[in-house]
Amino acid sequence: MTTQTKRVAIVTGGGSGIGLAIAEKFTQAGIETIIVGRDEKKLKEAKEKLGEHSYAKICDLSNLSSIPSFVCEVIKQFGQIDVLVNNAGINMKKEFQDVTDEDFQKVITTNLTSVFAISREVVKQMLKQKSGSIINISSMAAQYGLPKVIAYSASKTAIDGMTRAMAVELSPKGIRVNAIAPGFIVTDMTDKALNSDPERKSKVFGRTPMGYMGQPSDIGDAALFLASDAAKYITGVVLPVDGGNSIGF
Ligand code: NAI
Repeated sequence: MTTQTKRVAIVTGGGSGIGLAIAEKFTQAGIETIIVGRDEKKLKEAKEKLGEHSYAKICDLSNLSSIPSFVCEVIKQFGQIDVLVNNAGINMKKEFQDVTDEDFQKVITTNLTSVFAISREVVKQMLKQKSGSIINISSMAAQYGLPKVIAYSASKTAIDGMTRAMAVELSPKGIRVNAIAPGFIVTDMTDKALNSDPERKSKVFGRTPMGYMGQPSDIGDAALFLASDAAKYITGVVLPVDGGNSIGF
């Protein structure tokens, strides 16, 4: 991203959790921020919370064919896209042998294929601008083996590979591509995954040197940094923001 007055960002899944915290940091920095999601009521509430510089748009990203027209609409309205944060994601916790092909595909479509599809459309615009920053949200599931989340692990590990492949191809053209790997962050997603599973929860704390879960705003700070000129020489990294979870013993 170059120094300029108006900056425009898309944050997918910006209506809740980590996405909302990223949008909060962006709007506070004066970035025109479009939050994207499926739930109109949730997005409206989030937009009210964010206030100035925020815009809400409905798009179900798992409906891949709706993505090109959605991106077109944003370009028509805002004239540019400087930052794309691919944050929307779903998880599914099931024993390996119980995961159906449909279950697996559902997670892959939302967490991976839609990230590719929206990035491709946004990159077409960023290439015209000769600048841009794309930030993918990965996970600890791509750093080490996590049981009972096979499709999620496959999707997030692919996100790390795609981040590097995009970075080498697009960075020479002015587009930086990075990922953030959040550790265990307090959101609805982790409430569901951990509160019903005390053994998993104690494992999480046991290998997190800082000894507590992160806040969505911790990821927001990292995303704002990667989107800014302060990170102008950073591309292709997967940045853990995890209280040391990924290197914990
Ligand atoms: P969340 O469930 O609060 O937020 C996910 C958002 O994505 C929701 O607003 C949801 O409506 C949206 N979304 C899901 N499918 C969508 C679709 N098809 N189209 C449009 N929007 C869609 O979860 P959280 O925790 O904030 O997760 C955000 C990202 O961070 C996800 O990619 C998740 O995998 C990742 N993550 C979260 C961690 C955590 O500890 N909470 C840890 C590591 C990664």
